Amino acid sequence: MITPPELEAYAEAHTTPAPPHLAALHEDTLRTQSATQMLSGTVEGRFLEMLVWIALPRLVLEIGTYTGSAAQFMAGALPEGARVITCEFDADRAAFAREHLGTSPVGDRVEVAEGPALETISGLDGPFDLVFIDADKPAYVDYYEAVLPKLAERGLIAADNTLFGGEVLDPEPDGTAAAIVRFNDHVAADPRTVQVILPVRDGVTLIRHA
Ligand SMILES: C[S@@+](CC[C@H](N)C(=O)[O-])C[C@H]1O[C@@H](n2cnc3c(N)ncnc32)[C@H](O)[C@@H]1O
Repeated sequence: MITPPELEAYAEAHTTPAPPHLAALHEDTLRTQSATQMLSGTVEGRFLEMLVWIALPRLVLEIGTYTGSAAQFMAGALPEGARVITCEFDADRAAFAREHLGTSPVGDRVEVAEGPALETISGLDGPFDLVFIDADKPAYVDYYEAVLPKLAERGLIAADNTLFGGEVLDPEPDGTAAAIVRFNDHVAADPRTVQVILPVRDGVTLIRHA
């Protein structure tokens, strides 16, 4: 997180709470899963839902499902007939996400694609109207390069954790923050795109075609 915990709590307290099916997912995630810091939660979920509300995407791609919170938030604002494909290579997490989708009012709009995300992406034609990159950080540049040619003309990429708790200012060599720095520099130097880093939660970069 880049904002102090009190400010993060204030932002959450003044953000529309998660609907009951997502509150139950969050509770079950925190109670039963490992690595719960990966749960993006309500503020970022509502932010992504707002992007969907504005952009009215037909096809959303999420790279990194975890337990499916962001996928369900995005699905909640989709127009009729649109869908989210979310990529997860961990079989237990994919099963957990599917179990919750089975009882969710938006479950029929979300498909969990199990397997390495780059393989899933290579089998999809697109065009992607919205892509949320939120899996292993060292592969962010590869994800970006894999989805950009399949991004719709007015599509958006949102990449998570791009300020990495502030560590981007002074990254350990070869650490995760250094991978994020490589991604940020790669995108900033790319004449094909226009981008902005927003200090939402741990940093979210929005990227579009130039
Ligand atoms: C940060 S979590 C995703 C959080 C989720 N987007 C959310 O907002 O709640 C990253 C997830 O990506 C998955 N992952 C990591 N590397 C992957 C890969 N190469 N292909 C597919 N999934 C991957 C991890 O198992 C993990 O569940």
